[in-house]
Amino acid sequence: MLAGKRVLLIIGGGIAAFKSLDLIRRLRERGATVTPVLTKAAEEFVTPLSTSALAGQKVFRDLFDLTDEAEMGHIELSRSADLVVVAPATADLMAKMAGGHANDLASTILMATDKRVLIAPAMNVRMWEHAATQRNIETLKGDAILFVGPDEGEMACGEHGPGRMAEPLAIVDAVEAALSSGPLKGKHVLVTSGPTHEPIDPVRYIANRSSGAQGTAIARSLSALGAHVTFVTGPADVAPPPGVSVRSVQTAQQMLDAVNSALPADAAVFAAAVADWRVASASDSKIKKGDKGTPTLEFAENPDILATVSQLESGRPQLVVGFAAETDDVLAHASAKRDRKGCDWIIANDVSPETGIMGGTENAVTLISAEGHEEWPRMTKARVAERIAARIAEALK
Ligand code: CTP
Repeated sequence: MLAGKRVLLIIGGGIAAFKSLDLIRRLRERGATVTPVLTKAAEEFVTPLSTSALAGQKVFRDLFDLTDEAEMGHIELSRSADLVVVAPATADLMAKMAGGHANDLASTILMATDKRVLIAPAMNVRMWEHAATQRNIETLKGDAILFVGPDEGEMACGEHGPGRMAEPLAIVDAVEAALSSGPLKGKHVLVTSGPTHEPIDPVRYIANRSSGAQGTAIARSLSALGAHVTFVTGPADVAPPPGVSVRSVQTAQQMLDAVNSALPADAAVFAAAVADWRVASASDSKIKKGDKGTPTLEFAENPDILATVSQLESGRPQLVVGFAAETDDVLAHASAKRDRKGCDWIIANDVSPETGIMGGTENAVTLISAEGHEEWPRMTKARVAERIAARIAEALK
């Protein structure tokens, strides 16, 4: 529920702006107050009158409107809400945000606000995939801007691919996650998830079967309890949850760099299936079949991210949680792993093929801590995630 919450909704100029009218309705249904801001381009798609009527509020449109400034200055406006939402966030608005421009009301609010910002990108697939937009996405993620979507599918322009604005209800879920006032409010929790890809050459890589399902569910549950979650993910099968700060990586080394730059954190959960080894000298060009015979790959050990963070002398998160995917002697191996790596808890599970856990929807885990071990019954990964998040909230009290 969003009762009593105030959302400042910046509507950018894209065809998806029509969905923002429904978004206003959905946010209000959950109890939020919505103050709309229209960019000049947005007014080509939705009218100030319909926006204002649905919001039940005045619409702000102009940086230099003397009446508006007299009533509420743009700086005050930028700070009057609990959350700033940009939907649709066009390529142009994202570029302005990434570049720090402040030449109209929307961009000035985004520069001046002291609140968190959630954006719902929407644009043509080529614009989304353009190198400039991809650079801006990385910059914005680094600035802790929250993303929801875009979705993939048929677009208004007739093309197909990523770039459709997330559906209003998904945006509402992300708003709820960002504004949640649960027991983890004010806490920063880092979660790693998914597999890593270790290149052999520009077209081949070594990977593993991790889907990212358990890590994603944990990030979602932590966020639902009010945590600010930094979600560092390898190339996973499942999409990141809404309302978390996503850092996408490919390799173990990139995952370590992203983790280091996301610290400090109150707690860290290492659910990623990190490759233990990388190819020592990955080739810059494609390895060809030919007269050199069968290639031999030499491996080098990857950094152990969990052990590195567990053993930090300064800036160690108060609670460090690792996972142990084992196929035999689960408890003994996992307990030894906890000691070796120096983490506080290990969540151990049996990933033998007959359990169907790896890549499946259920998990049966044992929580190992300094106090001993607890076996949890088999349940869905979503339920395991909720229990882990609840235990983390208890531990950080
Ligand atoms: N992990 C990590 N960085 C690595 C390897 C593992 O952060 N380079 C983390 C995983 O995210 C998980 C835990 O360490 O939380 C256990 O990983 P696992 O690969 O199962 O343990 P290993 O140390 O590789 O032990 P073993 O190969 O004996 O199973």
